[in-house]
Formats: sequence, structure tokens, C-alpha cells
Amino acid sequence: MKILYKIVLCFCLCLVAITYSAKEGNASVGNTSNVVQPAGEKSVQIVTACDGRKRVIVEGCNEGEAMPVHKARKASELLMQLMEFCEEEITAKLPKTEMFIQLSINGMPYVTVRDTEEIPLVLVHGGKSHTEREKKVWAAEMDRMINEGYALFHNPGLGKNGISCDMCHPDAANTHPETYPKYQTQMNKVALLRDMINWCIENPMEGEKLAEDDSKMKAIEAYILSARGGKILEPGKH
Ligand code: HEC
Repeated sequence: MKILYKIVLCFCLCLVAITYSAKEGNASVGNTSNVVQPAGEKSVQIVTACDGRKRVIVEGCNEGEAMPVHKARKASELLMQLMEFCEEEITAKLPKTEMFIQLSINGMPYVTVRDTEEIPLVLVHGGKSHTEREKKVWAAEMDRMINEGYALFHNPGLGKNGISCDMCHPDAANTHPETYPKYQTQMNKVALLRDMINWCIENPMEGEKLAEDDSKMKAIEAYILSARGGKILEPGKH
């Protein structure tokens, strides 16, 4: 899916390379005043994406000249990466040294990244890593949900005959969440993990099925997935 998306992007991305001379005063790039080069800067080339929201300013390239191939490649790769962030308005600066990249996101001041792998982090968190407190809160919330699922899984309350999930699936054994969605013959359709959870509630346990968005269903899914973590995703596998 991601590959398809990238191919579509490739077609859509009509790169417009415009050379600007940023000699004092005459560097103007439309309505984004924050990208105007300061006086005295060398020439730049600006590569713009067709969505009008992303641009890469390549510093150290002379007006009217084609960029060296490695720079052109770097600029287009960077632009393609930025295109994955559809809504955002991003200006990237590729300095002459190429040691780092500067990004201005939605009009915010430039932040510096060393590697394009840091771009998602910068976009989501403004370049700041998560605080210890944040991580603790998230881990506690996650534990709470998993523990709720564990309790439901080890309790006959979901059914009517005194049987609980763990009696047939100790430690969530044989639940194979990594194989969903997959075709299930007893339903004659492609089932999600939650469909199978409901199937077991209704059949071996003779209970009432849960609504898909029931918090109990979410908790059971969270428990099963966490108990079977580390498995390679193999949707459709039998
Ligand atoms: C009496 C035994 C029994 C109980 C109790 C039971 N299951 Fe199952 N479960 C099965 C069997 C048998 C299958 C295999 C069905 C199939 O794939 O055709 C299964 C399949 C599953 C699957 C799909 C596994 C796969 O390989 O695709 C999941 C998920 C699952 N059960 C979850 C649960 C949950 C959650 C509960 C409690 C709400 C539960 N089961 C209770 C016997 C049980």
C-alpha cells in the first residue's frame, strides 16, 4: 500500500526547479516570507512540489546552472519524503555542507535534523524527545488496558457455562492475532481478530457477543496482542 502510494506520489510530483538568486533583496518565494534568504547569502535553487506546500531550498547552487547530480537526487528524495506529510506546509533547507537539514514546519522556526530518519519525530514532536513522565503515563495506561483484558480472559463472566478463555488458550496460546485478518470458514468471510473473539464467546462459552467498540473487546484485543507480541505479521495465514 505504501509502495503504491509512493508511486502515485511520483506521478503527482511535478518537480519545478526554479533558480533564485538570493543576492540582496531579490530573493522572493511567493507568500512564505520566512524562507527569504538573508542578505549576503549565496545563490539557492528551490525545488517545489506540486501540492504547493513543500519546498526544498538547495543552498550553494548557482543561478541558471543544473544542480550536481547528487544534490538533485538528495533534494528530490527529501521532497518525496516530505510529501508523505500531506497536510503540512514544510520548507526544507539543504545547506551547502549537506551535514544537516533545516526544516520549517507550518511557519514555525527552523529546526535542524542530522538525518532524514529524524523527520517524522520532528514533525510530530517538534524535535523534542518524549519526557520520562510522558513515557511513564503512557506505559501505565497501556498496562491498565492489558490488565483489564487479562482479567476478562481469565474470568468465565463473558460466557454462561463457567468456561473462560484461558481454559482453552492458556497465556493466549493459539489465538494467532498476527494472522488476522483471515478467511474463516465458520463465518464464510474474512474475519478480524475481534470477530474470532466474539465467535468464541458465542460458541464454546455460550455468551452474548460484544459490540466491536466495547471497551471489553478492546481490552481483550490489547491483552492477546501484547501476549503474542514479537511475532511477524502474516495476515491471511492458516
Ligand atoms: C472451549 C475452548 C475455547 C474457549 C473457552 C475459547 N476458545 Fe478461542 N478457540 C477455540 C478453538 C477450538 C478455536 C479454533 C477455531 C478455528 O480456528 O476454527 C479458537 C480460536 C480462537 C481464536 C482464533 C485463533 C486462530 O488460530 O485463528 C481466537 C483469537 C480466540 N479463539 C480467542 C478466544 C477468546 C478471546 C476466548 C474467550 C472469550 C476464547 N477464544 C475462548 C477454543 C476456545
